[in-house]
Amino acid sequence: MRTIVLDPDQRRIRQSFRRGLASYHDNAEAQAEIARDLVNVLKPHASAPIARAFEFGCGTGHLTHLLRQQIDIDWMLANDLVPECAEAVAPYVDAFAAGPIETLSVPTGLSLICSASTVQWIPDQTQLLQRFSDHLAPGGLLALSGFGTAQFHELQALGSAAAAPGYCDAEDWAAKAPKDVEILHLKQEPIVMWFDGALPLLRHLRKTGVNGQSNTQWSRSKLSEFERRYAEQFGQDSLLPLTYDPVWMIARKR
Ligand SMILES: C[S@@+](CC[C@H](N)C(=O)[O-])C[C@H]1O[C@@H](n2cnc3c(N)ncnc32)[C@H](O)[C@@H]1O
Repeated sequence: MRTIVLDPDQRRIRQSFRRGLASYHDNAEAQAEIARDLVNVLKPHASAPIARAFEFGCGTGHLTHLLRQQIDIDWMLANDLVPECAEAVAPYVDAFAAGPIETLSVPTGLSLICSASTVQWIPDQTQLLQRFSDHLAPGGLLALSGFGTAQFHELQALGSAAAAPGYCDAEDWAAKAPKDVEILHLKQEPIVMWFDGALPLLRHLRKTGVNGQSNTQWSRSKLSEFERRYAEQFGQDSLLPLTYDPVWMIARKR
């Protein structure tokens, strides 16, 4: 069996998603919507059957099951940092490989490489896109969603350390894409969720595992001070907003 070597950040991210795995699927409403939109924008470019597809960061399969339902794919490999995700996606894939995408051995000659709400966890996205381009067959498609720099901007303004390392706005993806990849579609549009207090908002983050970089210990006084500042700066009608800032990209290898 292959030994998976993780750096400390990857270990922390894996721990956070593993802890949230049981509650992720039903609480990740924004990610479910983002995956639906990714499939919708991919479909017009994927009218011919896809011979070999690869998805990284599949999680509990929001994107995986829609792809298998709505796009004609002959064979599909899925990956996630958390090995337990294999069980969730087993009904939809032909194979699963656990580990960080940065060091995973990715097959060559792929017709589709895709991922929803994961690429922001990868610090070197230029290198990642170059590798993907090397592993795509000519005409192969890349379908990715990540998050822009306004992701959780309320938390950023309040000094939270919950940020992922690779937030990237739509206009900056073009500079990261290698020359042999043509961008067909780029869009960035925020999704705002509303919570009736700091506790449900923090629970939402925990249940979806997306605060992997944060190790804040919450005392009662710390929580009420956080809620007061959050409400003062961003609250509306006694509700607290949390902004997701998704970016969708479809590209084709020339
Ligand atoms: C927000 S979830 C998205 C899951 C799913 N794609 C969806 O749309 O619901 C991010 C996923 O990326 C995985 N992940 C984070 N860093 C990763 C890495 N370096 N390599 C592979 N997967 C990673 C996490 O374990 C988690 O399952």
